[in-house]
Amino acid sequence: MGFEFSLPTKVVFGPGSIGSLDAELPSSISRIFIVTDAVLVEKGLAEQVKEHLGNRSVEIFSAVEPNPSFETVDAGGVVARAHESQLVVGLGGGSPMDAAKGIAGLVANPALSTRDLVSCGDLEWPAVPVVCIPTTSGTGSEVTPFAVFSNHAQRTKEGCSFPSFFPALALVDSELTYSMPHGTVIDTGLDVLTHAIEAFLSTIASPLSDVFALDAIARARTHLQQAVAKDHAAMDEMALAATLAGVAIAHASTILPHVMGYPLTVEHDIPHGRASTLALLPFLDLLMERLPESLKVQRLGSVFGGPGGMRQFVNELGIQTSLGSYGIDRTEISGFVPKVIVKSDLEITPFPISEEEITTIYEKGFE
Ligand SMILES: [Fe+2]
Repeated sequence: MGFEFSLPTKVVFGPGSIGSLDAELPSSISRIFIVTDAVLVEKGLAEQVKEHLGNRSVEIFSAVEPNPSFETVDAGGVVARAHESQLVVGLGGGSPMDAAKGIAGLVANPALSTRDLVSCGDLEWPAVPVVCIPTTSGTGSEVTPFAVFSNHAQRTKEGCSFPSFFPALALVDSELTYSMPHGTVIDTGLDVLTHAIEAFLSTIASPLSDVFALDAIARARTHLQQAVAKDHAAMDEMALAATLAGVAIAHASTILPHVMGYPLTVEHDIPHGRASTLALLPFLDLLMERLPESLKVQRLGSVFGGPGGMRQFVNELGIQTSLGSYGIDRTEISGFVPKVIVKSDLEITPFPISEEEITTIYEKGFE
């Protein structure tokens, strides 16, 4: 048994921790670019963060949409370079945080575009430092080197990962999550669960990443229901679970279900965490058939009280789990499969995956 484990991100966690932002940043950083979305500007959160940056020159870029496009990230890169930003803050859910990483990469490498980033060659220059401040409890992007962008021309989501995309600082202030809409608490909470379960099952998981994954699963299992009811203590727990699951995927990655969820988001606008869950449930059913002797599979079953337990848990959150309930037609599966089979995440899924296997899982998703 051998593995490596390194988390270069400093994590500052706790309700109210936004107050320590200024003190956490070196005084040599005088020009900061905040990447966020229009809703958070409207809520006053971007301004609140700016107030915690002292006398630095701060530019706010609020054009990030859900599942940010190549074009949005390119545009952010142009503005950030013009501002001569030394550090990029990603404020929001996964979309602004991922966009912040991309923009930080483009600031340091003016010759590149977002399309070049997702081609996953080496960056000539490391991205400028990134600080992530999540306002949802889901993505875990604050502690990962990953960023995912939408390629509108190809109707796909494309990911990339660079060591310099690990944020220098993850400032996880759960108070910033309290104003999340009800539906967002559910969808992002499901993202936490899928991250933790997929990382736990990944063939590159290690005993140390498993500690983070299992703790995140247990916390989400215990607290998501109450977090959806906007209980603040439960929302604090989900903020922690999201970061723990983020550490797990930073080391073990997500596997097949996340990739299978991408076409559901691109073609049917199903929120990311929910889309991953709709793929994960039939994937787990197939996994039980393929690897019934696996101790990990058995352990997962026991966490949710036996086979079908996770489906029941999701249903009790008020979420439909059949693909048919989202207006998806079985005839679309043949269009989804080619977009899934090309992804490298299949290589770390715990049983061999073929086009037929992916088709079977989507078909099971209609049950
Ligand atoms: Fe995710």
